[in-house]
Amino acid sequence: MDNARIAVMVGPKGRGSNMLALIRAGKEGRMPACVEVVIAPTHSAPAVQTAQDEKVRVAIVEPGDDYGARLLDAMEGCRYVCLAGFLRLLPEEVLRAFPDRVLNIHPALLPDFGGKGMYGARVHEGVIAAGAKESGCTVHLVNERYDDGRILLQKRLEVAPDDTPESLAARVLELEHQAYPEALTKLTRE
Ligand code: GRF
Repeated sequence: MDNARIAVMVGPKGRGSNMLALIRAGKEGRMPACVEVVIAPTHSAPAVQTAQDEKVRVAIVEPGDDYGARLLDAMEGCRYVCLAGFLRLLPEEVLRAFPDRVLNIHPALLPDFGGKGMYGARVHEGVIAAGAKESGCTVHLVNERYDDGRILLQKRLEVAPDDTPESLAARVLELEHQAYPEALTKLTRE
């Protein structure tokens, strides 16, 4: 059977490191799926260049009228949708078309330090301000609420006393790159 195809969605400022981790894991046979298309809201997202360098198809889909239908067009032939730095709620028709097959990665241990507005540096600032002893990342299924769907996989690390939001973000990001392909693999076997 052919490997399942993935559509990866990035945000307007998407740096695309998780996207790249998924592309590489697919190409190197470390997960039974491969990235078919990267969907970005604008050509200027840094992830777009990276995807092109990797010879992966890019679709630019700007939010606006018929956003859901245009996303579904771009995702045609894909079995999974992986959000990687995509910060919006997905249109309902996309969630309906991919039941339990839309994933997101979050740079903390959900349900803590998640929800609307909790992204980027704010997450790690929150972890440090709360004096949390551990952090990590979470791959979860996506539903109509922020950071709320069933958790597929978490990876943990200890927060060091001298961690800054930046140092913590960098260490969590390394875990994210391992976690996303692993979680996807796990989901394909369910
Ligand atoms: C990651 O920290 C991810 O957890 C969050 O957005 C960030 C995207 O980073 N959802 P990158 O673009 O994959 O490097």
